[in-house]
Amino acid sequence: MTARGVNPSSRVLVLGGGYTGQRFADAARARGAQVWLTSRSIKEGSQWLHFNAGEGAVPQLPEGLSHVLITLPPNKNGEDDAYNLLGESLRHQPLQWVGYLSTTGVYGDTQGRWADEQSPTEPGLRRSQSRLQCEQRWLASALPLQSFRLPAIYGPGRCPFQQLQQGQARLIHKPKQVFCRIHVDDIVGVLLHCCGLPPEARPAVLNVSDDLPCPSSETLGYAAHLLGCKLPAVRNFRDAQAEMSAMALSFWADNRRVSNARLCQDLGYQLRYPSYREGFAASWEEEQNRPK
Ligand SMILES: NC(=O)c1ccc[n+]([C@@H]2O[C@H](COP(=O)([O-])OP(=O)(O)OC[C@H]3O[C@@H](n4cnc5c(N)ncnc54)[C@H](OP(=O)(O)O)[C@@H]3O)[C@@H](O)[C@H]2O)c1
Repeated sequence: MTARGVNPSSRVLVLGGGYTGQRFADAARARGAQVWLTSRSIKEGSQWLHFNAGEGAVPQLPEGLSHVLITLPPNKNGEDDAYNLLGESLRHQPLQWVGYLSTTGVYGDTQGRWADEQSPTEPGLRRSQSRLQCEQRWLASALPLQSFRLPAIYGPGRCPFQQLQQGQARLIHKPKQVFCRIHVDDIVGVLLHCCGLPPEARPAVLNVSDDLPCPSSETLGYAAHLLGCKLPAVRNFRDAQAEMSAMALSFWADNRRVSNARLCQDLGYQLRYPSYREGFAASWEEEQNRPK
């Protein structure tokens, strides 16, 4: 019998080798697993498989896969390309675990109240409605699947440092509005933690959020403090919204706090970055130490 979790006998596929996908692939490889990732562009290296749903480029999957991570968002029609094009092939694999990256947008606007995994899913935004449908299809797929509901993902290269340095950051205040977030390495940590649990202990749906929902003005203030640079002038959301794109506005539409009690209390996961403070500091350090 093979040991549980990702280990040297694991054969791991990451559908969507983007920001989180690559970080998960690196961590799985560090545990000795053989790992493949997909990309829409042609990339060098036998670990890269070409998958571009829009162009109908569908990869032949490696045999004997033990773990699969799905990171594709719904397509512009709200459908799940990975499900439609590869779902059937996955059913023929000897899979121990499949992870699907979803969003906390499925809870909709709770007007600042806490949402846990038992909370109703009432997404107001169209993209969150599509997401919920995609998540439900995967959960009904009979694969050994867990859905991970994520708030804003940050980490090295995805913090407001460059915007601040280039004078493009916006300091916007909307009374009572908070945002939740999670460092990419905690997503990876949670995925690996769940792979190592006995199948019966893995919840079908899991929130992956840190301990500190807070206003974006607070996180921007801390980023400026770390960099030792000036903050832009604060603007009221009511005035600023006229200049925002529809996409930017949509990020302010929902106001909710996402509970991580199931993750941190029931499953005993210890966050590496309980708040943006530890997470921004580590991200800044990693960005500084990156080869230029
Ligand atoms: N970013 C956030 O703050 C956030 C918050 C909550 C949830 N999420 C969700 O969490 C997941 C991971 O987020 P992320 O930021 O790591 O995403 P990401 O870097 O954008 O990666 C998404 C991956 O999906 C692939 N993909 C997209 N459309 C595709 C298509 N038509 N055919 C084939 N592959 C396609 C991309 O391929 P390429 O590598 O070729 O581009 C990429 O590898 C996504 O589903 C995202 O929507 C993100």
